[in-house]
Amino acid sequence: MFDLQKLIRQNIKTLVPFSSARDEFTGNADVFLDANENSLGSPLLKWYNRYPDPHQSKLKAALSQVKCIGEEHIFLGNGSDECIDLLYRCFCNPSKDNIIICPPTFTMYQVSAKINDITIRESPLLEDFQLNLAHIETLVDENTKIIWLCSPNNPSGNCLNRMDIETILNNFSGLVVIDEAYINFAKQKSFIQELKDYPNLIVLQTLSKAWGLAGLRLGMAFASPEIIFTLNKAKPAYNISETTQELCLKALEEIGQVNDMIQEIVAMREALASVLRQMPTVEKVYPSDANFLLVKIAKAHQLYLYLLSRGIVVRDRSNIPYCENCIRITIGTEKENTILVDALLDWLDLSLGE
Ligand SMILES: Cc1ncc(COP(=O)(O)O)c(C=O)c1O
Repeated sequence: MFDLQKLIRQNIKTLVPFSSARDEFTGNADVFLDANENSLGSPLLKWYNRYPDPHQSKLKAALSQVKCIGEEHIFLGNGSDECIDLLYRCFCNPSKDNIIICPPTFTMYQVSAKINDITIRESPLLEDFQLNLAHIETLVDENTKIIWLCSPNNPSGNCLNRMDIETILNNFSGLVVIDEAYINFAKQKSFIQELKDYPNLIVLQTLSKAWGLAGLRLGMAFASPEIIFTLNKAKPAYNISETTQELCLKALEEIGQVNDMIQEIVAMREALASVLRQMPTVEKVYPSDANFLLVKIAKAHQLYLYLLSRGIVVRDRSNIPYCENCIRITIGTEKENTILVDALLDWLDLSLGE
């Protein structure tokens, strides 16, 4: 049985959160002498001398419209990375609890667990990069607090089978985090609308991918109001800067343009995949629901170095378990994709000439 109160760390349960100056008065005011800001302003045209809204109310209201979910279900972090770290800090006791990850997957779940001194249990994905449910079950004990699922998965690019995810949600009494950083590029729909059915579900999304705003750092966690309340208690008060709040709010108005861009990226992904599949040194282009392709290719590491020498940076994944001889290629602009393909063809000539 899922019991959130049992999962929250005792020190977080009893925590009296930081109370910001602006939280301590209600009503309207014109003269703010409460937060030790510089009332004279700043040398910048736009004055950034005031602390940002710690509750990010306007941004959450706009996101609530875009995502069709109540504001009380939304937590905002300084990138998904901050959401990941806070989940550990709120729900996992260092040196005692454990979490389950399914490699190959996004490495931040592991790095952040290590920082927080949480034991990592691994259930490798099957050959088709799907979950091994029977194996996951063997790893769960009373100290297992979180199962991390990444769908579409990084670096493989595929969505996890929905029924498998539902099986875990129905049977695991800890928290299930589904990282949907790449969901906008996928055919599968988000799990956000399933929150009403699963009190143990947390969905992570980000504006870093489809929305093209990696530099602004806005990660989102969607969950029950009780989980959101807990995360808010533990977060740094002003974790989302004024610039990020302002610019993200503006960007959210351009959803039509973003949807067009997503379609363009998906079309380029499929075009690049079919070019790559025709290359004799390419062993496999894994099906992708994301904005990148995982490619198994002969001499992957040498190819990586060759591309670097041509000024093209892809991700060498050949040294990580389950991705032997693989590189991960992010879909670029039309021009960048052409430069990449030209370099790959030259590499092919060089390889065949050996
Ligand atoms: C699966 C996944 N989640 C989260 C992130 C990071 O998101 P953010 O930029 O919001 O920290 C990445 C970045 O590559 C990712 O691949």
